[in-house]
Amino acid sequence: MNIHNHMDADLDIGTKIHLYFTIYGVPHEKLKDRRTVVIDVLRTATSIVHALKNGAKYVIPAESASDAGNLASQIPRDDVLLCGERDARMVDGFDLGNSPSEYTRERVNGRRIIFASTNGTPAVVRASHAKSVFLAGFVNLDAVIDAILSLDDPFPMMLLCSGNSNKISLEDSVCGGLLIKRLRERGKFDFELNDGAKVAELLAEKFGGDMLKLLNESDHGRYLKKLGMEDDLLLCAAESVNSVVPVLLDGRLVKLET
Ligand code: MLT
Repeated sequence: MNIHNHMDADLDIGTKIHLYFTIYGVPHEKLKDRRTVVIDVLRTATSIVHALKNGAKYVIPAESASDAGNLASQIPRDDVLLCGERDARMVDGFDLGNSPSEYTRERVNGRRIIFASTNGTPAVVRASHAKSVFLAGFVNLDAVIDAILSLDDPFPMMLLCSGNSNKISLEDSVCGGLLIKRLRERGKFDFELNDGAKVAELLAEKFGGDMLKLLNESDHGRYLKKLGMEDDLLLCAAESVNSVVPVLLDGRLVKLET
């Protein structure tokens, strides 16, 4: 008999993975005990992975464009880039938007970046009290799994999908589902999943075979195409092509050193 059955189920933390489809349902009081992976396939995670890969010193995630502007005004601007989007478009006065292709070595090498996006960076800020925070998209999925498996105590874990303005996003859910599926295969874990995690695994089974098709058909993918940003879908669909794992340390996303 499991003595925790009649007590708070969270005392039995084992190999628990809980997935949330948006940042709003997240039980904040539990964050401090949880390893957390924030997921934003389109496009924040992909852009930040490109930025760190191409030599950015670090990325400060901001909760809003005005927060980013305030932060930028407090530090010397010489090596700082103000980056991100509102409704997928670059913000007036910013240096770069949120197309991964903008984060070239020429633009970002040696620079510090302040980044504000509609859903992705607010999710990172909200997760900042967690035991640890990694940032994932399709682009670095296997590297994130390697990073999780290298931890002595990866569980309990929270997968936090950034979503789409408080709505579920298919691509983030599928990414979370694939992460669980591959962790299970590689670590031979017997997970205890919440309903969100179970649903995400099913979505990964159904939609996880062709990432570009998935992005082309998702709400946000179709919106980006309408804005003429279809090239970004290709970059965001490229699966496990990048070994950079952004990890949040003292309010900054840096490249995980393994
Ligand atoms: C977000 O954080 O909401 C996205 O990255 C939006 C985008 O595609 O720029």
